[in-house]
Amino acid sequence: MNKLDTALVTSALKKAGFSIAESEKGADVVLINTCSVREHAEQRVLSHLGHLKHIKKSKPNMVVGVIGCMAQRLGAELLEDKTIDIVCGPVQIPQIAELVTKALQEKKRAVAITGKIRQESPENEALEEFESVFDSYDKQIPGQAFVRAMRGCNNFCTYCIVPYVRGPEVSRPPAAIIEQVKRLAGEGVKLVALLGQMVNAYKYNTNGKTYCLADLLYMVSEIEGIEWIRFVTSYPTEESYGQILKAMADLPKVCNYLHMPAQSGSDKILKAMNRNYTASKYLELLDKAREIVPGIAIAGDFMVGFPGETEEDFGKTVSLVQKARYKNCFVFKYSARPGTTADKRLQDAVPQEVKKRRNIKLLAVQEKISEQLAKQFLGKEVKVLVEGLSKKANVSTCSEKGYQQLMGRTAEDWIVVFDGPVTLAGKFIKVKITRTSPLTLFGEMS
Ligand code: 5AD
Ligand code: SF4
Repeated sequence: MNKLDTALVTSALKKAGFSIAESEKGADVVLINTCSVREHAEQRVLSHLGHLKHIKKSKPNMVVGVIGCMAQRLGAELLEDKTIDIVCGPVQIPQIAELVTKALQEKKRAVAITGKIRQESPENEALEEFESVFDSYDKQIPGQAFVRAMRGCNNFCTYCIVPYVRGPEVSRPPAAIIEQVKRLAGEGVKLVALLGQMVNAYKYNTNGKTYCLADLLYMVSEIEGIEWIRFVTSYPTEESYGQILKAMADLPKVCNYLHMPAQSGSDKILKAMNRNYTASKYLELLDKAREIVPGIAIAGDFMVGFPGETEEDFGKTVSLVQKARYKNCFVFKYSARPGTTADKRLQDAVPQEVKKRRNIKLLAVQEKISEQLAKQFLGKEVKVLVEGLSKKANVSTCSEKGYQQLMGRTAEDWIVVFDGPVTLAGKFIKVKITRTSPLTLFGEMS
């Protein structure tokens, strides 16, 4: 979501005459798009602001803006830090060019956030217009773009800040989404990722018809130039699930990939989190996915150290991970988010060392599974959409001249590393897998 917002803000500012600076030191304006989902994300922003304060000493006219969820959460409080000139929430990003211009020309410090974020507001229309006018293709990863299917969330998982900073759940009109994807296809985008906090709950009523995510997948599939379609993130629920899986099985363009966070394997903890499923129900949903879409790759999210999580509860999470056979999973240490139900009613009592130990253990359990799954690719050829240089491109030695170490992903989201010319970024190629590690497949272009 934040990457998408950053792309839209960049596009709006470019249209207003700004250009991207090489570095913060050379910039007239620095905007930080922030995430509030975990305390750690906010701490990183604060330390970054410390760094900017230092730069601002020698460049007092530099404008610093904090945008996104942390801006919405903290509002005017952020202006107590004299480094900050602009505070702009995720709903106010359509005002960004105006806010930046005023800060530069009139030296005006400003806060633009929503007072009652849980209420329907006319600002949503402005956001819809902003979204449909500006481009979400920032070419950071050639050939790929995000498209928002839904804003906000109504789920209120007890640990989660999202409903309080991104507001109520709103599905975007299918016509707006389709038009946007067509435009992106025209610009050379091959992979679109439809985004929503609970994207499988997409629903839009128009002309006497209710469109669900499966309908969107069929419509996006018709768009020429788009070759792969992903959707993230899915909430484990029966509703619309069969239709979505059927669309995935029917439509070659829809990637056989599902990101469906479980968060915990303990029914007691799931209940305390206000997640409306049990561990066995969750596993049934995975079985159904594998039955309808053979070969589907599934990724999960887990949280360790939620209030009240005992060793026994954690053991149930380990057991769920063993059964789920994820391609990969993301594991987070619980952190209390101010204003959420868990923060108000439960004590964040699991010690930091215990959270850390459980985090490491769960990742180790998953690593073994990922390793086994990765090995199945040995000797096989996979289709890869090339993203660009690999993380270790500068240290790798390439056999052939002009080649560098590149990375890309398969439709199932496996990371593939191989040597090739960087001009392949944004293109599809075939790679023969010769070596694997738990999270990466290594191979040669074929
Ligand atoms: N503490 C730790 N992790 C969290 N997540 C959401 N809220 C919190 C929190 N308060 C994790 C969940 C979610 C992912 C995006 O972030 O696992 O799926
Ligand atoms: Fe947060 Fe739950 Fe909504 Fe996901 S579904 S954004 S975890 S409240």
